[in-house]
Amino acid sequence: MTALTLSTAAAPGLRADAIVVGVAKGAKGPVVAPGAEAVDQAYDGKLGDVLGTLGASGAEGEVTKLPAPAGFKAPVVVAVGLGALPEKDETFGAESLRRAAGVAARTLAGAKKAAFALPIEDAADAGAIGEGALLGAYAFDAYKEIGKDAKNGKGPLGEVTLLGGKPRDAAYKAAVARATAVSEELNRARDLVNTPPNDLNPEAFAAVAQAAAEEHGIQVEVLDVEALEEGGYGGILGVGAGSEAGPRLVKLTYTHEAASKHLAFVGKGITYDSGGISLKPAGHNETMKCDMAGAAAVFAAVVAAARLGLEVNVTGWLALAENMPSGSATRPGDVLRMYSGKTVEVLNTDAEGRLVLADALWAASAEKPDAIVDVATLTGAMMLALGNRTYGIMANDDAFRSALHEAAEEVGESAWPMPLPDHLKKGMESPTADIANMGERYGGGLVAGLFLREFVGEGITWAHLDIAGPAFNEGGPFGYTPKGGTGSAVRTLVRLAELTAVGDLG
Ligand code: BES
Ligand code: MN
Ligand code: ZN
Repeated sequence: MTALTLSTAAAPGLRADAIVVGVAKGAKGPVVAPGAEAVDQAYDGKLGDVLGTLGASGAEGEVTKLPAPAGFKAPVVVAVGLGALPEKDETFGAESLRRAAGVAARTLAGAKKAAFALPIEDAADAGAIGEGALLGAYAFDAYKEIGKDAKNGKGPLGEVTLLGGKPRDAAYKAAVARATAVSEELNRARDLVNTPPNDLNPEAFAAVAQAAAEEHGIQVEVLDVEALEEGGYGGILGVGAGSEAGPRLVKLTYTHEAASKHLAFVGKGITYDSGGISLKPAGHNETMKCDMAGAAAVFAAVVAAARLGLEVNVTGWLALAENMPSGSATRPGDVLRMYSGKTVEVLNTDAEGRLVLADALWAASAEKPDAIVDVATLTGAMMLALGNRTYGIMANDDAFRSALHEAAEEVGESAWPMPLPDHLKKGMESPTADIANMGERYGGGLVAGLFLREFVGEGITWAHLDIAGPAFNEGGPFGYTPKGGTGSAVRTLVRLAELTAVGDLG
């Protein structure tokens, strides 16, 4: 794991593999961003011109490497684009700092140590840069055998030290500690998403959650198949019925003695979604190890809340199952008796996420939390609607939906509010059971949200995050987002818990 520290050292004397500086897009070419004054001076104040000559513009995502000036201990200067130069009296936004730091850390894979001389105005900026660096440094190479030895293997950047902050200032220390805890847990969520489904079945996921929870003083309870049968969790059991690896429901309980609010996070944890008997065609199942990204996000957020000691009680529910076709699998046409007592006619076994979530939502509701947020790679329809970098937010409370949207924006996650139009409920009417697990094709993401709403306890504030788009990056890396698992929604959940802890949320 990459280490993160603050340093008051001056850039020239610093022992590191590289010094990272920021470059912004000015009206007349690239401009060296604040924080890199000492570096610029060593180039006789001409670093901006030099970068321009090398073709740099300051655009976001841009990387220019050049030899460090004479007298510098570090051999290389890495200039990262920050995008547009801020207006007078304004500063670089947190997300642009986070992205630039991520790009730099990614570029420096294999290096031992880098010093970041990016613009820092306050502790929040240091936190954003630290977070971007730790998230950008992420690499998943647990399954790469070739080139694993130290000589060939690159591995993530080893150490990041931020220049220009105040290492002894409490706010800066807290910002670095927060960035470290959140990034490490988010990266763990990415690891879980990236782990192949032959190694991460429901039992294995539950074991990982159990170990981490115990390490961080979180109470943990795992319901195995027997316990699920005893409890009547027909949704989770129905989805897991086709797999050799039985389903699990994991409950994580983090409590703080001074807490006055209680949040419940519920995650979809389909460790592999083949579609079941309604089998997905080739081309649609290669990335379906990512279908537990919601549960991974919930897990990461609960552990991060515990590490940060937030003054709020948080319960995490991981609804874990593998959706497989077999002689014991649920068939299209079967009726499941859910944990809530409602019956569901399964018309399409590929609409399995809502079935496991329904049971977990009902279980979460029994504790009467102040609010429930579920997170799920739920529908392809949400990807069609919002693309692959934005998740949809649905809720039974407009103010809560807006609060989540704001929290997402604050931490640099792209999200958008979606409606739950009542008329779409009609499509889920079943001649046989209380409700069917499918409805109209148009607005499929909203139909899924309406289905979930039926399993939220009376009077409980609830929101649903459909992260099917941003959870798994099939394209190339960008900013601090790697290829594969992204850790989508982790930072929003942590922010929600922080805001709830300080009473800024209802
Ligand atoms: N896990 C999928 C949704 C998904 C698709 C996530 C692509 C990430 C990328 C979900 O279980 C699913 O199969 N949904 C169906 C629902 C339909 C059968 C009503 C879908 O969206 O097609
Ligand atoms: Mn499915
Ligand atoms: Zn699924």
